[in-house]
Amino acid sequence: MKLDDFRLNLHGKEYVPIIIGGMGVNISTAELALEAARLGGIGHISDAEVHAIADKRFGTNFIERKREKYFASKDQRSKPEVQFNIDELAEAQGLHVSKTMEAKKGSGAIFMNCMEKLTMNNPLETLKTRLSAAMDAGIDGITLSAGLHLRSFELIKNHSRFFDTMFGIIVSSAKALNLFLIKAARVGRQPDYIVVEGPLAGGHLGFGINNWKEFNLKSITDEVLQFLKEHGLKIPVIPAGGIFTGTDAVEFLQSGSSGVQVATRFTVTKESGLPDFVKQKYFQALEEEVEVNTVSPTGYPMRMLKQSPVLQKSVKPNCEGLGYLLDSKGNCSYLGAYYDEIQKGISAANVFIKEKVCLCTGMQTFKCWTCGHYVYRLKDTTNKLIDGVYQLLTAEHVFQDYLFSEDHKIKLPEFELAFA
Ligand SMILES: Cc1cc2nc3c(=O)[nH]c(=O)nc-3n(C[C@H](O)[C@H](O)[C@H](O)COP(=O)(O)O)c2cc1C
Repeated sequence: MKLDDFRLNLHGKEYVPIIIGGMGVNISTAELALEAARLGGIGHISDAEVHAIADKRFGTNFIERKREKYFASKDQRSKPEVQFNIDELAEAQGLHVSKTMEAKKGSGAIFMNCMEKLTMNNPLETLKTRLSAAMDAGIDGITLSAGLHLRSFELIKNHSRFFDTMFGIIVSSAKALNLFLIKAARVGRQPDYIVVEGPLAGGHLGFGINNWKEFNLKSITDEVLQFLKEHGLKIPVIPAGGIFTGTDAVEFLQSGSSGVQVATRFTVTKESGLPDFVKQKYFQALEEEVEVNTVSPTGYPMRMLKQSPVLQKSVKPNCEGLGYLLDSKGNCSYLGAYYDEIQKGISAANVFIKEKVCLCTGMQTFKCWTCGHYVYRLKDTTNKLIDGVYQLLTAEHVFQDYLFSEDHKIKLPEFELAFA
């Protein structure tokens, strides 16, 4: 069987059962998401560091103005006053979503990936604004991620599009799902889909640093399917993490899942937001170069390539302009670690912190190379050209390969002579 033999039913509509997962900061670009929608599937944009995305996409200058406004705090280790302007946040989010939705063609959908861990020095109000502004701007669906989202529905329950926008939650266990469902029931709203993310995914992981290897996607997905059955709930389940071939996907759909969420194979497409030289690093990656570490200030383990520039050199914190990981008191574990070093008398140019990285800067500048476990298999999905460069793929090619491949085969693209 092929993945194309299945369809995903969500909110009374049929989709091709491929969801391209959200990849911040602007790795899952509007262009990538729009391709998924055009082909009948579902693509995600991400609102991680949305001001920076708006500045890049639309020439606004949100980040620069914020940096100037809070310049005086640049040497403080705690930054309670460095706040996001709520109207500007809504404006940036509105631009990002509405311009994407206006460009949408085809029968698929565009979703927004919304990470709770972006606490932005004002967790509840900023989250409410991000969700509301995305709904105002016409987003088809919102995937709640990187956090349990126990208060998220409560924040937006009075929004006029609360019941008409599709909502999904990413969980890594039936236990986390149960907590979310209890809260969701209080506002009379179930999620429309559940993404079950296993330990081989890219980005942050919902497992402990010492036990992630003990889990596998198949058994967590089965556990979630069983949980839903026992509770008489019919919510589509979408596994994610390490689904590398169409056949991998078919195996999940044959055992009760409704679609799959995939990301790593799309990081090396022309539409992905990674710079081309970083796409080549992903193609070149070896299995032994992939690590799960604890350098993210969010406290979640994260998978990345060991050669990521953020792991080689520390940068001065940049919370005046960015500050997406500041907690409700204006602190971040990277900030603390950085200023501990400065107080020891180490000069800014020589500070090197192994334990934490400035993720806001690292992700914005594409210097944190987060990836799924199977990044090292990407080289087998394309042609190596005579100058040693790997040929970039189109999102359409990868999408169709997932849909039509059989027996775990991966179709290589037509040689692109222009590269040679
Ligand atoms: C480069 C990259 C960045 C990611 N960023 C995010 C993110 O910002 N938020 C999120 O919820 N998941 C993120 N993910 C996870 C994906 O959305 C997806 O669920 C997962 O990677 C699927 O597994 P696969 O990469 O093995 O296909 C990221 C994954 C990758 C590869």
